[in-house]
Amino acid sequence: MEKREKGFGTVAVHAGEDGFPYRPSSTPIYQTSTYTFDTVGDAAAVMHGARSGFVYTRIGNPTVQAFEKKLAALEGADDAVAFASGMAAISAVFLELLRPGDEAISCSQIYSGTRGFYDQILSRTGCVIRHFSPHEDIRKKIPLLVNRKTRLIFFETPSNPELSIVDMGIIASIARDHNIFSVIDNTFATPYLQRPFDHGVDCVVHSATKYIGGHGDAIGGIVAGKSDFISRLRKNMLLNIGGCLSPFNAWLYLRGLKTLHVRMDHHCRAAATIADFLVRHRQVRAVLYPGLSTHPGHDVARRQMRGFGGMVSFRLTGRAACRKVLDRLRLCKIGVSLGDAETLAMNSALMFYPGLTDAACRKIGIDPGLIRLSTGLEDAQDIIDDLGSALKKL
Ligand SMILES: Cc1ncc(COP(=O)(O)O)c(C=O)c1O
Repeated sequence: MEKREKGFGTVAVHAGEDGFPYRPSSTPIYQTSTYTFDTVGDAAAVMHGARSGFVYTRIGNPTVQAFEKKLAALEGADDAVAFASGMAAISAVFLELLRPGDEAISCSQIYSGTRGFYDQILSRTGCVIRHFSPHEDIRKKIPLLVNRKTRLIFFETPSNPELSIVDMGIIASIARDHNIFSVIDNTFATPYLQRPFDHGVDCVVHSATKYIGGHGDAIGGIVAGKSDFISRLRKNMLLNIGGCLSPFNAWLYLRGLKTLHVRMDHHCRAAATIADFLVRHRQVRAVLYPGLSTHPGHDVARRQMRGFGGMVSFRLTGRAACRKVLDRLRLCKIGVSLGDAETLAMNSALMFYPGLTDAACRKIGIDPGLIRLSTGLEDAQDIIDDLGSALKKL
């Protein structure tokens, strides 16, 4: 009989957690900065890879390694390396792959922090980022952006905050044809809902702060990919820049990942129910949710995702209406993060750019009338009741 691969939940519960002394069912937190040796020869053997072991927690720690192994197993990657935040993970990938004057291609719809990294940090190195929109014909557009300096292509799907969908297989095949490294930010989908390596993508990054942790209590990030690339990141970015994950946060992520599939199923069901409610509400101008058949990326999302995710964005008449609705929410909280047990709602124009006019917001890709909702683990009907009473008073 052909050997069946273990199911996602089984891998989520067990991967990475074997081999600890006393066989604990919960991996211990190795809360240590350094490791000691009987002889300098032993120290040198571990430092230079002749013997396995740990030297210093910035570049390796048993609890952090268990988290890296679990995430790599869930993504179907050779290996993974954890960072202090999603931004530390994303910036490490760019800094490892680009040299001054190199170019990268990026989807225009990405997390604002990643855009800030392009504008404030990468621009200092003379690196150029060329953008494509998820709404254009990417098969035609992306090859037009490639030149001999292009090193990598970066994208999110579903994207933050408009939940646009990009076909991962198309991006991966364009990248292969042009010998470019493809990188996806898989934060919104998680490995439970989509596995980019199955579509030929080279590298996956996550803000572990979100669904991986799942409880809004720990900042962290992780990169998964081929062993040689992950080793390069560990050596160059952790050793020499140093944005490592703390053992305690790694332990929280080990615990979070054990229930990822259960939580994501709930998030997906709740988001679909809430999207359906919002579509039928007369104060709502548009609902952006890839699970709706009217969403332009619905067919691609159906093909490449197991479920449509827990994020729902919706458009009202403008920022004044968004302010009223957000301020009237009682159960749902105003907050910038996502993927938590609590439902979080936000509007970028009001919260990040209060000094910009609507026109100026649109110019930088911010829709002033958009509310982004991260559906939590509450009962969907209670979230709907809260949204309904906030929308009623418009
Ligand atoms: C899609 C996405 N990627 C990356 C990040 C950055 O992650 P962190 O806040 O953990 O640095 C965020 C944060 O909101 C995000 O939404």
